[in-house]
Amino acid sequence: MKIKFLGGTKMKRFALPKGPENQIIAIEKLRSDFLNHYDHPIENKIPWEEIETICISILDNFFIKVREGGYNLRSLPPAHDLGHMQRDCTRSFMLLQDATIQKTVTSEDMVAAILSGTIHDIGMLIVERYGESDRLIRHAEAGALFAKKFMNFEILNSFGKEVKDYVKAMTFYSMAAHTNYDKPHTIGNYVIEPYAKIWPDKSPIWPVKLTRWIDSMDFNGCFAIFRGILALIKPREESMQGQFVQVDFDAQHMYPHLPKTDEEKELYKKTAIKHMWNFTSTFNQMPFCEFDLPGGIMTEYRDMISKIGLEILEGENKPNMKVVGQEELSQCLCEFSMCSRDGQEKIFNLVEKFNTLDPGTKRRWYEILTLAKGFLQEFESLGLFGQDHATQVAKKRFITQ
Ligand SMILES: [Fe+2]
Ligand SMILES: [Fe+2]
Repeated sequence: MKIKFLGGTKMKRFALPKGPENQIIAIEKLRSDFLNHYDHPIENKIPWEEIETICISILDNFFIKVREGGYNLRSLPPAHDLGHMQRDCTRSFMLLQDATIQKTVTSEDMVAAILSGTIHDIGMLIVERYGESDRLIRHAEAGALFAKKFMNFEILNSFGKEVKDYVKAMTFYSMAAHTNYDKPHTIGNYVIEPYAKIWPDKSPIWPVKLTRWIDSMDFNGCFAIFRGILALIKPREESMQGQFVQVDFDAQHMYPHLPKTDEEKELYKKTAIKHMWNFTSTFNQMPFCEFDLPGGIMTEYRDMISKIGLEILEGENKPNMKVVGQEELSQCLCEFSMCSRDGQEKIFNLVEKFNTLDPGTKRRWYEILTLAKGFLQEFESLGLFGQDHATQVAKKRFITQ
């Protein structure tokens, strides 16, 4: 129940509510503010260019306020770092340019989806990501409350109070709902119900859905491989096949092949590679894929990265392949993570740990990571619809953080 606060001793300008009663009031308000709008579907048709300008302005102002509040986005933890946020931002602006999505989603929902899609993990500036099953305020709710403190929606004044209040409430709600916990959750005397993802008429609550899509694009394929490695910087508890298991960088966990025989399946069912493969191979059955739009950009994108991810993970040893060197691999993980100097040091130490593995295991991981690195570079130049523009928009926001 106790929340472990992060960030050292420096005074920060935000504190989560103290004590379970205040915490429950705060998170229930995230829901009730949103529920007030259940009967008020709003549909202003704001042109896409204007939506983009509004979102950029709100985000830029937010990041200034966050910095002034004493927070550094580069101190976000490995795998949920600034790199993840930059890719979330790119995908937010990319997906929302898609014609099918634009036809389906209202302007107000588009604004909320871009904001929530980009900063949904910002709660990790103040609370831990893992071990949150016994907490009332988890990283998603912490992020929503944090955004409530620092995000300014004045730019929406010209659309009227109702529109502004709706976008605000929907942004925070979608952030709180992003983790997709879909079972009631008992903590002490409280039962936390799953967040609603459909309206009473059964249509999707699009900003919730889109935030989950945006997030999920980073735990598939080569992105999942790089993030899975970065997550090994710190031992953690991870949910695998319905059980919580302790995950650490050790010989057993780093076994680099997918198990084939029954004996191997028993012995190596909770390895890093199996975890990456599980995400990639079962992706289209996951709850993240509900409400897929036929022929939409999301399904195309997901199929494409899943295919490449499976090719990398299911491949056999490639003895003639030229693999990246230790230094280059560290650099590449640092660029992917966009972390602080302190984080970079941790990445260098992590890569150093590969030297403790047997030569065959080490070699195979280097092959996997070399292939993933190659795809990451290729990916930027694929020229998917709206990708170049969205990449530029996102880079501009984050390069100066
Ligand atoms: Fe998250
Ligand atoms: Fe995320």
